[in-house]
Amino acid sequence: METIIKGIDGVEEAAEVIKRGGLVAFPTETVYGLGGNALDPEVARRIYAAKGRPSDNPLIVHVSSAEEAEPLVSVLSETARRLMSRFWPGPLTLVLPKSERVPYETTGGLDTVALRCPENKCTLEFIRACGLPIAGPSANTSGKPSPTEARHVYEDLQGRIEMILDDGEASIGVESTILDLSGETPTLLRPGAVTAAELESALGRSVVIDPAVLSGSVGEGVHPKAPGMKYRHYAPKAKMTLVTTAFLREKDFRVAESERVREDERIADFINEETEISVKAGNRVGILCCRETEELYRTGYGNIKVDIKLLGSREDPLSMTHTLFRLLREFDADAVDEIFAESYPERGVGFALMNRLRKASGMREELLTEEE
Ligand code: TXA
Ligand code: MG
Repeated sequence: METIIKGIDGVEEAAEVIKRGGLVAFPTETVYGLGGNALDPEVARRIYAAKGRPSDNPLIVHVSSAEEAEPLVSVLSETARRLMSRFWPGPLTLVLPKSERVPYETTGGLDTVALRCPENKCTLEFIRACGLPIAGPSANTSGKPSPTEARHVYEDLQGRIEMILDDGEASIGVESTILDLSGETPTLLRPGAVTAAELESALGRSVVIDPAVLSGSVGEGVHPKAPGMKYRHYAPKAKMTLVTTAFLREKDFRVAESERVREDERIADFINEETEISVKAGNRVGILCCRETEELYRTGYGNIKVDIKLLGSREDPLSMTHTLFRLLREFDADAVDEIFAESYPERGVGFALMNRLRKASGMREELLTEEE
């Protein structure tokens, strides 16, 4: 099969492909999705096969309005309604009890369905043109960073899907926040651009953070609420180490400039030392940092260059989530063997950023202790 790439003028054609039971990768404000008819069990099977994804990992179902979500759930609580009206369209996925219309193939055998209404104009036009709910996991092959550009989708899924709708770079760059509303307490299953604090203020009650979000993985024998959490994700090929300090973990940057500079230097000193060791051992080394700290890093050793990549500005965590997955793919393309990454405050969207950095590093984290 040849995968064709179309711009947003291809929306009608893309909808025809979906109605015929085909697969179309589509843009959203978070990451590109791999779309198909969410009500067709055979299509769900094709999606899993195209991604190389285990079929017990459920798919997110995309709708173009809260009204379209109604027939897909068995009960639509007042809480769910409130969150939909406050955050949709936008990067929030809600897990709700499914109705009979949604096949178990789409939900990975669960009695709940994850629903989301994306904010992107082209995406909404596409869903409306299909006239169907669209199952859409991220359009990467399983285990790779989610695609934030059409060419990433092409790299991963070329020849396995009918079409890619290209609408440029995804603005947010990391996947949607997932909130489980199917139990007694609203539970955050995946952090994203809609923050826990925003959800709490809309709900007027506290939100529980699922333990698997904090640990980044799930213990043996534990059945995770979002089955996706048990798989390795977002991983570059290189060995990646996230470098942090106790100070960064516990506080944030609303502190004296002098303290902040000291923390930056401690992290950079450590990374520079480790980089030198790794380079001398014959490795190609990459560093993931931000605009504010770039100048603290040594750019080369002799004629060997260090592959320094900038996430964006730490004053604006969305500028960093926007670039993260693209840079992880670039490290792969550059055949980097080892990556060192800085840590950032986990406030607001910084929580989602750090969650993805932890996953990319396979939870390999170096905590710098206080100097004597
Ligand atoms: O931003 C996004 O959400 C993107 C775009 C394309 O919309 N989609 C996305 O889908 O990230 P995916 O399939 O890569 O991630 C969906 C996550 C998985 O971890 C899955 O386990 C979880 O959502 N999930 C889906 N249905 C669920 C359910 N019924 N209960 C709990 N978790 C669910
Ligand atoms: Mg995914």
